[in-house]
Amino acid sequence: MDDPAQALKRQVGAEAARLVEDGMVVGLGTGSTAECVIDSLGERVREGLRFVGIPTSKRSEAQARALGIAIAGFADHAEIDLTIDGADEIERGTLNLVKGLGGALLREKIVAASSKRMVVVADHSKLVDRLGTHAPVPVEVSSFGWESVARQLGLLGARPTPRRDRGGTLFVTDGGNMILDCAFAPLDDPADTEAAIRAIVGVLECGLFINRAVLALVASADGVQRLERE
Ligand code: 5RP
Repeated sequence: MDDPAQALKRQVGAEAARLVEDGMVVGLGTGSTAECVIDSLGERVREGLRFVGIPTSKRSEAQARALGIAIAGFADHAEIDLTIDGADEIERGTLNLVKGLGGALLREKIVAASSKRMVVVADHSKLVDRLGTHAPVPVEVSSFGWESVARQLGLLGARPTPRRDRGGTLFVTDGGNMILDCAFAPLDDPADTEAAIRAIVGVLECGLFINRAVLALVASADGVQRLERE
């Protein structure tokens, strides 16, 4: 049986999967909540739904393929109708996000940037008044010269830590890059911080997602709440 946290993810995953319609191009997110969305989409495909998915990670692609979901890429589709993805923090009101603790932020941002609509799925523990409250901001960087990039991130007020896997070796993203997890004090102006991070040479992408999500589906013991961007 699911533990309560997993049950919330399944609930919000099923609700989000209902947003997908026949013929859509759908961005498939990464992480444990996005995994529940993909599971529910697999069920809908078995019931006859037809759509194509553009995955944000090798892991999500493998899961989707195993469930019979058709996979597509940007060579075939200039635009994505709907992307459904998880988040590490969601700012109340703006729906600005921290993403990337699952290690897929570069692909996730490419997919989000090509989407007409991004819907974020999470449980209520991810809602914050200011980004940076609980989660570090993951920053994907070139493995060449990462120490120099880390120093420059430090000048922005971050405490960057290179991400490692359980065995202690440096984590490598699907694109062959590194991630620096940057602890900040809660951010007053995340758009400004995103711009400053992205301006550092060697930074490939930043886990702050500003003005991307238009709707958040947030699960709690009371059910799934729909929060529109204000
Ligand atoms: C992956 C992500 C994930 O969406 C984020 O880490 C949330 O994951 P989870 O649903 O497992 O809490 O950004 O890069």
